[in-house]
Amino acid sequence: MASRITTLEAFNAELERIQARAQGLVPEAGDAAALEAARVELVGRESGALTALGTSLGSLPKEQRREAGQGFNLVRTAVEAALEAARARLAAASGTGALADPTMPPRTSWRGSRHPVSIVLDELEDIFRELGFTIALGPEAEHEWYNFGALNFPADHPAMDLHDTLYLGAGTLHHGDHAISLLRTHTSPVQVRTLQSYAPPIRILAPGTVYRRDFFDATHAPAFAQLEGLAIDEGISFADLKATLTLFARRFYGAGTRTRFGPSYFPFTEPSAQMEVEVDLGDGRGNRWLEIMGCGLVHPAVLESAGIDSERYSGWAFGMGPGRIAMSRYGITDIRLLYDSDVRFLEQFAAC
Ligand code: DAH
Repeated sequence: MASRITTLEAFNAELERIQARAQGLVPEAGDAAALEAARVELVGRESGALTALGTSLGSLPKEQRREAGQGFNLVRTAVEAALEAARARLAAASGTGALADPTMPPRTSWRGSRHPVSIVLDELEDIFRELGFTIALGPEAEHEWYNFGALNFPADHPAMDLHDTLYLGAGTLHHGDHAISLLRTHTSPVQVRTLQSYAPPIRILAPGTVYRRDFFDATHAPAFAQLEGLAIDEGISFADLKATLTLFARRFYGAGTRTRFGPSYFPFTEPSAQMEVEVDLGDGRGNRWLEIMGCGLVHPAVLESAGIDSERYSGWAFGMGPGRIAMSRYGITDIRLLYDSDVRFLEQFAAC
């Protein structure tokens, strides 16, 4: 029949007929044999209806071939996608047993498990809770002022660049008096919100998700977990920071773990530091220094922007990435594993 097609109208009519036939046939296929029969009828190499129609393209008037070919390709792509989807549907169904080979053993051995980042986060929270810290939460959609301005970022700081920050569309959302204008790039704005709402002494821990305009590759994710800490009181010094964070490191990584503090820079702390711990990651490379957090004494400008008297009060803060800490603890080398929800990966943490 296809060989008699010589006009665009006839070509399109046949194309529509095949499309309708595919729409009936493919979703109806209840098993692999029915699906294979549908595939042969539609796109089989010898007698498939689309295959045959394709050979008649050359019999159309030259000026109509282009249009006919475009329509043909659209339908063929759609039919092939539908066949593929049906194949996946049947494979998934047979895996759970609905249409399975009745001699297959049931899959009763799947075990639920906690996510490695949740496991680590729980442990971090437990350690700081014992040291008198309570949990504080803040919004993920945040105002620029909390995310940057109140934290002493200069107006032209590169972190505010469109390349790093996910800005939300012009403000229709409001939180109190502030228009919401971005996805927070760190958990540090929770420092400001806490300082505004509570009087010192303050010791809080702020876990949460933060967002960056970043590639998704082995070492970067556009959304990831952070854990912020803040301690404010009268007479707090850098010695308190070192003592508390070293105590934390020894609880988490083991008694006797060595720590060291190196200079760093953050607009909201002065001085700023990075803390390293000496650990053996079990990768055969022995002990080495691993940077696990940024920290420092809270900049007086941050206290003042939240209405706290910086002559009377001082304090320290830190920020770390539970994802990176989980990766170092469990020897995970690709950050994407933390987001894939692959049971074969997650099952390994059932015992933790
Ligand atoms: N907010 C910083 C970031 O996202 C991390 C950080 C560093 C937080 C030092 C702190 C701190 O509280 O003191 O990169």
